Amino acid sequence: METEEPQAKQTLLLRGYDPAADSTAINQAGQILRGGGIVAIPTETVYGLAGNALDPSATGKIYAAKGRPSDNPLIVHIDRLEEWAPLVRELPEEALLLARKYWPGPLTIILPKSALVPDTTSGGLDTVAVRMPQDPVARGVIRAAGVPLAAPSANRSGSPSPTTWRHCVDDLWGRVDAILQSYDCRVGVESTVLSLCREADGRLCPRLLRPGAVTLEMLQGVLGEVTVDRGVLEHLEDGEKVRSPGMKYRHYAPSAEVLLVAGDREQYRAYLRENERPGEYAVCFEEDLPIVELPAFPYGRREDHAAQAREIFRLLRELDRLGAKKIYIHAPEKDGIGLAVYNRLVRAAAFHVVVLPEET
Ligand code: TXA
Ligand code: MG
Repeated sequence: METEEPQAKQTLLLRGYDPAADSTAINQAGQILRGGGIVAIPTETVYGLAGNALDPSATGKIYAAKGRPSDNPLIVHIDRLEEWAPLVRELPEEALLLARKYWPGPLTIILPKSALVPDTTSGGLDTVAVRMPQDPVARGVIRAAGVPLAAPSANRSGSPSPTTWRHCVDDLWGRVDAILQSYDCRVGVESTVLSLCREADGRLCPRLLRPGAVTLEMLQGVLGEVTVDRGVLEHLEDGEKVRSPGMKYRHYAPSAEVLLVAGDREQYRAYLRENERPGEYAVCFEEDLPIVELPAFPYGRREDHAAQAREIFRLLRELDRLGAKKIYIHAPEKDGIGLAVYNRLVRAAAFHVVVLPEET
């Protein structure tokens, strides 16, 4: 279900760095959103393309501007906890525990949706994903709009998520009503997506659909057992049950061929030596720089998953701009936010992973 191309339109660039100092821009964004328009806004994770979540015509514009398939549901962003209950059919204690601990912040919780949420927002599903972002500008815009805001990442469908307002300009200029100029995103990868829906027997089954900065370990600390959906790390075959429609689409993909190389520093060096060709690039840890001969872009120290998360989408865009044909990425460990970084990279690599054998 592809959506139609939108008409080219005049895009406003609004300067909104600080809700106190730049309240005019934030109110202007709110006004556009109240009138059914769409605006790219900062959040602490990535920039989002916002529209009134309760207005199918506004969400229709979001799908069209992104070129996003209409069965891929949107996350609804709220400013206050009280705005949650009207959107869902039940609010289990586990959901409230998580919200009290991790909201505002990079955690999205999926629950059965109420009749207030249009099918266009939920992509036809019976559930709705909700999060309360932490970024003060995002919160100011939701408040100014006076409605919950549907906001997918503000990139063209399939390209890496935007972590600066300039990325939004690159992808969406002329396709949206306004872009809010603000700080670069602090986290750099999209929110953790957790489903808290019930099994047929009524049991609540917490299931991680997308890892993020609220880590699996943090969720387990509150909930005990959390199932990690198979789609987080593995390629789902055609026809396999997909719990999060976003999993089935080509994602975070630069134009270059990406290969994820898992191994220690020496193994990474040896693998590059054997395989590298002119016009190819390495995305590696800072410690790898002295041993890599290809043009290399470091994305943080091996242990520093937070830095890797902040850098990765920006680097993938940069490498596209350079016309990279092939990129060898040194794979991060899968603990903490590293799981989120690995999840995005394995998609950028279309699941092409080289696992080098452990030395014995
Ligand atoms: O950090 C974020 O979450 C950013 C910022 C802008 O808030 N938003 C974001 O939205 O990443 P998006 O649309 O790019 O990713 C939302 C993901 C998609 O993979 C979608 O399939 C999944 O969440 N999702 C949304 N609603 C769902 C639902 N009801 N059931 C299962 N998956 C859902
Ligand atoms: Mg996205």
